[in-house]
Amino acid sequence: MSLATPPGDPGFRSLDELEEIAAGRLPAPIWAYVQGGAGEERTLRANRSAFARATVRPRVLRGVGEIDLRVRLLDSPCAAPLFVCPTAYQAKIHPDAESGVARAAATEGVVTVVSTLSSHSIETIAAAAGAGSRWFQLYPQPDRAVERRLLDRAEAAGYSALVVTVDTPVLGVRDRQARGGFAIDGSVPIGNGSDVVPPSRGPILDGVTYRLRPDAGATWELVDRLREQTRLPIVVKGILTPEDARECVDHGAKAIIVSNHGGRQLDGAPATLDVLPDLVAAVGGHAEVYLDGGVRRGTDVIVALARGAKAVGIGRPILWALAAGGEPGVRQYLAMLKLEVVVAMALLGRRSVAELDRTVVGDRSEPPI
Ligand SMILES: Cc1cc2nc3c(=O)[nH]c(=O)nc-3n(C[C@H](O)[C@H](O)[C@H](O)COP(=O)(O)O)c2cc1C
Repeated sequence: MSLATPPGDPGFRSLDELEEIAAGRLPAPIWAYVQGGAGEERTLRANRSAFARATVRPRVLRGVGEIDLRVRLLDSPCAAPLFVCPTAYQAKIHPDAESGVARAAATEGVVTVVSTLSSHSIETIAAAAGAGSRWFQLYPQPDRAVERRLLDRAEAAGYSALVVTVDTPVLGVRDRQARGGFAIDGSVPIGNGSDVVPPSRGPILDGVTYRLRPDAGATWELVDRLREQTRLPIVVKGILTPEDARECVDHGAKAIIVSNHGGRQLDGAPATLDVLPDLVAAVGGHAEVYLDGGVRRGTDVIVALARGAKAVGIGRPILWALAAGGEPGVRQYLAMLKLEVVVAMALLGRRSVAELDRTVVGDRSEPPI
């Protein structure tokens, strides 16, 4: 007997199947853009292998008749400790693009973080999200007037946090993407207007030194300036060291995202899960700490939370789900992920997110399974 796929069903039953379907739907250059990392992709692999090394400690007979995934992120209620990571150019993946993702996230009660480089505009995505929580991700712009306009538009359209990505003074050296032939340049339309630019592609030799774009000259004053320019809480994305985590707190960030940009920026940077506990300690409760990079399954979510993250972000799987089935595909993936978290919590004997403490995860020296 074959399992017929109901009409409108994106047609995946597991994560592996989802990735396979997405690979088959997208042209090779776009697939290389989505999947690729920087250089030899050591960091990309490390994100996943850090989760593969982690083990969890099931507890039994602890009364798991009801399980609650709800949390508050930046003082707003969320159905689960999850957010959709900002990813650029989603119309290249499916016509539903960011609007479809925002609608799916809203249905599932999950925050969506919208990229500066979205294919749909800030306002169109906000209308699609309706009452759903949305945060705006800013790539600092060389033209401050353009940056200012983006902030004003995000505020006016009901975005409730500003996520500033700070790990991209220049784009990483992305071998797989380059071989695939997808170039992040002016030829890819940006929904927020033609004056909005992606991070700089490369340094230019200027006499005996190399010159980067003016926005690469940013210092921590950037966070101070943004704080003056917006009333939205500031989340700093792309932090990997305790030193920088403390800078975020000193400059008034309300949250940090421990992120290596999905292994796309600096090859050799550590896996986010490995550095998380030290960054949580460095922040010392003065800001919320989130993590992204390699989160795929319910148990990954649990392990990151048990090591101190307040929420985790999902990058590539959202794009796979978008490719596989547009908005319904993303909805299905998010629902599946939440169910996996619930099943894992039941098997761990934990009823609420607050109960996901350090005792959930095994010793790091345990052999991989
Ligand atoms: C195709 C693609 C595009 C991305 N675009 C952006 C972006 O526009 N802004 C940003 O801050 N991060 C961007 N990222 C990084 C993600 O926000 C996130 O940090 C990363 O994907 C998390 O890792 P994961 O893909 O393993 O879940 C992008 C990632 C991918 C895969």
